Amino acid sequence: MDKLNIVGNGPLRGEISISGAKNAALPILAATLLCPEPFTVSNVPHLRDITTTLELLGRFGTRIELDENMTLVADSASLTTLQAPYELVRTMRASILVLGPLLTRFGEAEVSLPGGCAIGSRPVNLHIQGLKAMGAHIEIEDGYIKAHAKRLKGARFLFDVISVTGTENLMMAATLADGVTVLENAAREPEITDLARCLTAMGARIKGAGTDTITIEGVEKLHGGSHTITSDRIETGTFLVAAAATGGHIRLRRTEPSYLDAVIEKLRETGAIIHSEGDVIEIDMRGKRPKSVNVTTAPYPAFPTDMQAQFVALNAFAQGTATVKETIFENRFMHVQELQRMGADIELQGNTAIVRGVEVLHGAPVMATDLRASACLVIAGLAAQGETEIDRIYHLDRGYECIEEKLAQLGAKIRRLPAGTRPQKCTGAS
Ligand code: EPU
Repeated sequence: MDKLNIVGNGPLRGEISISGAKNAALPILAATLLCPEPFTVSNVPHLRDITTTLELLGRFGTRIELDENMTLVADSASLTTLQAPYELVRTMRASILVLGPLLTRFGEAEVSLPGGCAIGSRPVNLHIQGLKAMGAHIEIEDGYIKAHAKRLKGARFLFDVISVTGTENLMMAATLADGVTVLENAAREPEITDLARCLTAMGARIKGAGTDTITIEGVEKLHGGSHTITSDRIETGTFLVAAAATGGHIRLRRTEPSYLDAVIEKLRETGAIIHSEGDVIEIDMRGKRPKSVNVTTAPYPAFPTDMQAQFVALNAFAQGTATVKETIFENRFMHVQELQRMGADIELQGNTAIVRGVEVLHGAPVMATDLRASACLVIAGLAAQGETEIDRIYHLDRGYECIEEKLAQLGAKIRRLPAGTRPQKCTGAS
């Protein structure tokens, strides 16, 4: 397994471009299954989760052409199977996003139940309940969700918990249903709005995306077209925190500042000076040690759970004590133990981490446990004294495009050690 070697060497400086959003690209690629004509998607990020999704689409019989600029044309005119197998679904939970599109267009679908996850139990009961409300017959058999429906019917569905992929699955299913579907207490994430824009480009009729009530009027058929994926707000936020953590000064291009209001507000509280104009955000933290900030995760537009781990890293050597409360997932603090190995003073009390900032973190061998935990360890490694070696960075490759190249461009001392490379001697706690 590849590892990352990072030597903390001070402030990040310079300018990079932000990639297309992973969590927008995944539902949008699933949405191409709705379309009987070729559909073009641009600004697709080059990530492992995208490769997995393309492999899944390929299994169904979708023909995919991908150019060197990561613009792809997906042609799902005729499919050969409607089954999403366990071996792919277990590597990527977002595979559940094919359930709604396949069922609504072809009248049946079989998707393996995703199973356990490193950050929480993550059930898909709301996806299933919502499709049932639209008239689907669904059974769980041999570990598979087996769904049938002659044609889904428009329905009113209230999410009792806000679910991002749940909202996306039902929104896609509703595009070809008979009648009007109203999704209440829907997720409002920018990725939902981006998916709605993509579906509209296919001929879907959707109102209210970005609010908590989304209305979809089903149509008989969708058609080909094109869509450009929006920028990745979590990648943007991760680089902003990395700059704040290292006392850096960076500019991020091709991003969307308005997606990050809650994150930017918290970064300003740490002492960062942030300016945004058009699609550029600039952060300046030169000569400062960050001040601790309290954070509570909640659905958009509040502070995102996908930025929680990065703020734990920032607080770990900030001035003061902060509480970081996780309200979305029940087990999303796996990074805490690894940070403790680097000298962090963090106490876990249920869903809250009490982070007492220390003057310095020390490089150490650490292990990534999930995508955002990996980002947290990268930030800690950049800001620590000495050398950090992060194992299991395949998690990072799922969601950050060219992270070591981008960080190197900002002056970081970071390199990938391909599998088989002898472990480097690390300084600090071990
Ligand atoms: N939930 C249910 N039942 C359901 C669905 C969700 O109880 O049927 C619960 C979950 O257990 C959780 C809460 O609802 O407690 C919210 O989960 P949600 O369904 O919103 O999460 P998701 O759609 O599976 C997406 C992102 C995650 C991100 C969460 C929350 C994608 C592909 N994934 O997951 O991204 O953390 O929303 O914002 O969009 C990541 O990128 O690192 C990542 C984990």
